[in-house]
Amino acid sequence: MPVLSVLSTLLYFISMPVPWALGHPHITPCRLSQSTALCNSYGLSSVPSDLPQQIEELFLNQNFVSTLQNDCLSRYASLRLFSCASNRLRAVEEKAFSRSPLIESLNLANNDLHHGHKQFAQSLRSLTRLRTLDLSSNGLTEDMVSDLLQNLTSIEFLYLSGNILLRLDESTFRDLYQLKELNLERNLLFEIDGAFDHLQKLLRLNLAFNSLPCLVKFEMTQLVMLNASHNLIEWFITNSDVTEIFQLEMLDLSNNRLLFFPFLPTHSSIRSLLLSNNQINFYSHLAVNNSSNWTTNVEYYNMGRNASNITADLWDESLHGDISSVQLLDLSGNQLRYFPKGFLQKMPHLYWLRLRRNCLESFNLTAEDVPATLYELDVSNNRLTELHAQPSSVSVLNNLTHLNLSLNDIKRLPPRVFNTLPSLNTVDLSYNTVGICHSGDISDSDTPACVVWTNHSSLKQLYIAGCSIQNLPPLVFEGTPLTHLELSNNPDLLIGQDSLSGLSGTLQHLGLSNTGLQNFDFSPYKHLKFLNISKNAIWELPKSLLMLNLKLLDLRNNMLSTIQSEHATALADRVQIVYVNGNAFNCCHLEWYRMFEESKALCAVDLSEVTCIDLHRQSQKAMFFDSVDCGSRSTEESIFWYILLFLSVCLSLVGISVIYLLTYRPKVLPRAIKKKCWRPTPY
Ligand SMILES: *[C@@H]1O[C@H](CO)[C@@H](O)[C@H](O)[C@H]1NC(C)=O
Ligand SMILES: *[C@@H]1O[C@H](CO)[C@@H](O)[C@H](O)[C@H]1NC(C)=O
Ligand SMILES: *[C@@H]1O[C@H](CO)[C@@H](O)[C@H](O)[C@H]1NC(C)=O
Ligand SMILES: *[C@@H]1O[C@H](CO)[C@@H](O)[C@H](O)[C@H]1NC(C)=O
Ligand SMILES: *[C@@H]1O[C@H](CO)[C@@H](O)[C@H](O)[C@H]1NC(C)=O
Ligand SMILES: *[C@@H]1O[C@H](CO)[C@@H](O)[C@H](O)[C@H]1NC(C)=O
Ligand SMILES: *[C@@H]1O[C@H](CO)[C@@H](O)[C@H](O)[C@H]1NC(C)=O
Ligand SMILES: *[C@@H]1O[C@H](CO)[C@@H](O)[C@H](O)[C@H]1NC(C)=O
Ligand SMILES: *[C@@H]1O[C@H](CO)[C@@H](O)[C@H](O)[C@H]1NC(C)=O
Ligand SMILES: *[C@@H]1O[C@H](CO)[C@@H](O)[C@H](O)[C@H]1NC(C)=O
Ligand SMILES: *[C@@H]1O[C@H](CO)[C@@H](O)[C@H](O)[C@H]1NC(C)=O
Ligand SMILES: *[C@@H]1O[C@H](CO)[C@@H](O)[C@H](O)[C@H]1NC(C)=O
Repeated sequence: MPVLSVLSTLLYFISMPVPWALGHPHITPCRLSQSTALCNSYGLSSVPSDLPQQIEELFLNQNFVSTLQNDCLSRYASLRLFSCASNRLRAVEEKAFSRSPLIESLNLANNDLHHGHKQFAQSLRSLTRLRTLDLSSNGLTEDMVSDLLQNLTSIEFLYLSGNILLRLDESTFRDLYQLKELNLERNLLFEIDGAFDHLQKLLRLNLAFNSLPCLVKFEMTQLVMLNASHNLIEWFITNSDVTEIFQLEMLDLSNNRLLFFPFLPTHSSIRSLLLSNNQINFYSHLAVNNSSNWTTNVEYYNMGRNASNITADLWDESLHGDISSVQLLDLSGNQLRYFPKGFLQKMPHLYWLRLRRNCLESFNLTAEDVPATLYELDVSNNRLTELHAQPSSVSVLNNLTHLNLSLNDIKRLPPRVFNTLPSLNTVDLSYNTVGICHSGDISDSDTPACVVWTNHSSLKQLYIAGCSIQNLPPLVFEGTPLTHLELSNNPDLLIGQDSLSGLSGTLQHLGLSNTGLQNFDFSPYKHLKFLNISKNAIWELPKSLLMLNLKLLDLRNNMLSTIQSEHATALADRVQIVYVNGNAFNCCHLEWYRMFEESKALCAVDLSEVTCIDLHRQSQKAMFFDSVDCGSRSTEESIFWYILLFLSVCLSLVGISVIYLLTYRPKVLPRAIKKKCWRPTPY
C-alpha cells in the first residue's frame, strides 16, 4: 500500500511539466475559453494533443515548436484559426493541415520558414478556405513567396512584412484574385512591375520601409489606402490616361525624396495626404515662357523591359490632380517657399494643414487664401516675417481652433488679428519678435509688432515664450479665460502682481522659466497645477507656493540655498512632482533633502543629481554628503585631534628621555639592575 502511494505521487510529479504527453486533458497548461485554446508562452515544443477536439481557435505563439508534423492538428478538425507565430518553425510537413480543411486564418509570422518552403507550399494547398495568411519575418524571397501562394485563390488578407523581397512582377501574386489587403512593409523592394494589375479587389496596400525609387503609372483605381512612406520615392505619377474615379482615400508618401507635389488622379476622393519629410517645392516661378531649355518630361526604365516614356508637365501646376476632398494635408519638413495662387482654395474641406519646417516667407490668413473649414493650422518653424490678414475677412475662418506660428521671424501682424477668429483656442507665437500691446499704442504704425490679448473669450492656451517681451502691463489678459500661459525665455520680462490679474479663476499651467523672476505672489492662482519657475534668481521659496496644490513644480537653476523644513513639509504634502537641481544648496542645511527623500507623496525627479556646496566651497553630490563634515561638529573633532597630537608628543618626549638615559648615562642602569637583580649564582 505505501509503495503504491509513493509511486502515484512520483507519477504525479513527473506528469506536471508535460501533462499532454500523458494524455490527461484536465491538466493541460493551456487556458481554454469557449472554443479557444490559449497556449502562448508555455515553452511547448509541439502542438498539444490533449485539447478538446472541438476547439476552433488555437494560439501557440511564443513557444519552441520547430516542426509542424503531418497530422499534428488532425485531432482538431473544427479548427478555423491556427496561430503559431514567434516559434522556431523550420518545417511544415506536407500533410500538416490536411485534416483541418476549415482553417481560415493562419499566422506563422516570425519563424524560419525559408527552410523547406516547397514542402510548406504543399501543405498550404489543402487550405481551400484560407482567408488570412501571415508570413511576416520568415526570411522569404520573392521566388519562395510566389511558390507558396500558388493556387491560394481564397486569400483576402496577406501579411509579408519583414521578409527579403526585392522585386515583384505579375507572377508573384498571380492567383490571389480575392486579395483585399496586402502588407509588404520592411522588405527590400526596389521594383514593382505589374504585380498588382490583376488584383481587382485590393483595397489596402502597405509598401512602407522599402527602397522604391518611384511610383509611376499609378492606376489602381479601387485602392483605398496606399502607404509608401519611408522609401526613396522621387516621383509619384498617376497614369493620366485613366479617366475613371479613383477610390483612394489615404495616401502616405511621407519620408521619401519627392521634389514635386505628387501627380494625383484627376478624379479621386483623397482625404488624407501625408507628404511630410520630402523635398517638395512648387516651381511655377521657373516656368516663365522659356521652357525650351527645361526638360518637361521624365523617362523611366524597368529592369526587365525597355524604356517607357511617362510625360508629366513638371512646371504646370494645374496638374496636381483632384485634391478637392482632402481633409488632412501634412507637408511638414519640405522646401515650400510659396503656394501657387489658389492652391489651398482647391481644398474646400481642409481641416488640418501642417506646414511645420518649410521655407514659407509670408502667409495670408484670409478667407481668399485659406479654406474657411480650417480647424488646425501649423506654420511653425518657417521664415515668416509677416502675417497678412484683413480683420473683416479673417472672421470667416470661424472654425480655426489651433494656430501655431512659433519659431518664425514675425515682426508685423495686425494687432487684433486673433480677436477676430471666433473659435481660436490655442495660439503658439513663441520665438517671434512680437510684444503685447498697451491700450495706448494700438495703431497701424510700423513700430515693433504687438498683439492684443484682452477680451478674447475663446482663447484658452497662449504660448508666447521667447518673444523678447519686456513689459507685461496690468490687465493684459483681462476678459481672456486662459488656462495655459507660457511666458518662458523672455529674460527681461517685468511681471507685475497685476499683470496676470483676471486669470486667477482659470490659470492651470504657468511657464515663467528664464524671466528674471525674483518673487511673485502665486496665492491668487488657486487652480494652478503646473508651475515652471526654473532659471530665475529665486533665493527663497515664495511662501505663496505653499498654498497651491501643484502637480508639477520646476525650481531648477535658481539661487536657493535651502528650503526651510516647514516649507519642505508643506511642499511634500501638496506637490506631486518637483525638480530642484541646479541651485546653490548649502550642504549643511539639507534637512529638506532628507524629507523629500522620505516623502511618499512627492516625487522629486532629479533628487539623485542634486549638488550642494560644502564648507570649502566645493560642489558635492547631496546624496553622498555626510553631515559629519559640517561646521557644528568640526570644532569638537579638531579638539579631539589636538588632544591626540598632544598625547603623542608627550609620549615621544618620554621615549626620548628614556633613550637618552640609556645611552649617555650607561652606568646608572647597570647599577640599578645590579642592585635589584644581582644575585650570586648557584654554580
Ligand atoms: C494549381 O491549379 C491548377 C489548376 O487547378 C493545377 O493545374 C496546378 O497543378 C495547381 N498547381 C499546384 C502547384 O498545385
Ligand atoms: C504607414 O506605415 C508606417 C510604417 O508602418 C506607419 O508608421 C504609418 O503610420 C503608416 N501610415 C498610415 C497613414 O497609417
Ligand atoms: C527664363 O527663366 C529664367 C529663370 O527663371 C529667368 O531668369 C529668365 O528671365 C527667363 N527668360 C525669359 C525669356 O522668360
Ligand atoms: C509668356 O509669353 C506670352 C507671350 O509670348 C505672354 O502672353 C505670357 O503672359 C507669358 N507668360 C508668362 C508666365 O510670363
Ligand atoms: C536656352 O535656349 C536658348 C535658345 O532657345 C539658348 O540660346 C541658350 O544657350 C539655352 N541655355 C541653356 C543653358 O541651355
Ligand atoms: C521594347 O521591347 C519590345 C519587346 O519587349 C520591342 O518590341 C519594342 O520595340 C521595344 N521598344 C523600344 C522603344 O525599344
Ligand atoms: C521619350 O520622349 C522623348 C521626347 O518626347 C523622345 O525623344 C524619346 O525617344 C522617347 N522615348 C521613348 C522610349 O519613347
Ligand atoms: C497675400 O495677399 C496679398 C494681398 O493682400 C498679396 O499681394 C500676396 O501675394 C499674398 N501672399 C500670399 C503668400 O498669398
Ligand atoms: C465648422 O465646423 C462645423 C462642424 O464642426 C461645420 O458644420 C461648419 O460648416 C464649419 N464651418 C465652416 C465655415 O466650414
Ligand atoms: C508649435 O510648433 C512647435 C515647433 O514645430 C512645437 O514645438 C510646439 O509644441 C507647437 N505648439 C503647440 C501648442 O502645439
Ligand atoms: C474688454 O471688455 C470690457 C467689457 O466688455 C470693456 O469695458 C473693455 O474696454 C474691453 N477691453 C478692451 C481692451 O477692449
Ligand atoms: C521649464 O521650462 C524650461 C524652459 O522652457 C524647459 O526647458 C523645462 O523643460 C521646463 N520644465 C518642465 C518640467 O517642463
